[in-house]
Amino acid sequence: MDVQFFVNGEERTFGGDQRTPLLDVLRGDFRLTGTKSVCRGGFCGACTVLIDGEPVPSCQRPVGLLEGAEITTIEGMAPVGELNLVQQAFLDHDVVQCGMCFPGMVITLTHFLGSNPMPGRAEIKEALAGNMCRCTGYERIVDAVLSICPTEQAEDQPPVPEVSER
Ligand code: FES
Ligand code: FES
Repeated sequence: MDVQFFVNGEERTFGGDQRTPLLDVLRGDFRLTGTKSVCRGGFCGACTVLIDGEPVPSCQRPVGLLEGAEITTIEGMAPVGELNLVQQAFLDHDVVQCGMCFPGMVITLTHFLGSNPMPGRAEIKEALAGNMCRCTGYERIVDAVLSICPTEQAEDQPPVPEVSER
């Protein structure tokens, strides 16, 4: 039996084993290799995609459950040749090291900032709880995200000195 769904707005059909993890269908069948395969156990978040607008580890989602679903992968986060705000912030802050975690982080953070555009440092760390990075230590990742958050930018500014009236 075939299953039909949408990937980055394009209708796709998969006719193989319905138990196949979405991760393998994306990477193996559709050649969308931006979604990374790391732990394959639902722990690291590297394989995160949006399914009907929610971040989900694609290694944990059998494709047979996705009839009619709207899936967005890292390839669909910005028009071809462009970067979204989170991707640009990572680039500007020179955050990426091995890069295996970043597609999942971009998906998670883009979704998070959509509902909380002005988070604090602790909220960003909490949002990334399901996305493991073995390289960076996270602080620069959080700094990059804060750079595109207006409230925190304002808090980072030195206090405006009071001007005494003459
Ligand atoms: S590869 Fe899916 S959570 Fe790690
Ligand atoms: S940059 Fe290597 S795992 Fe995050």
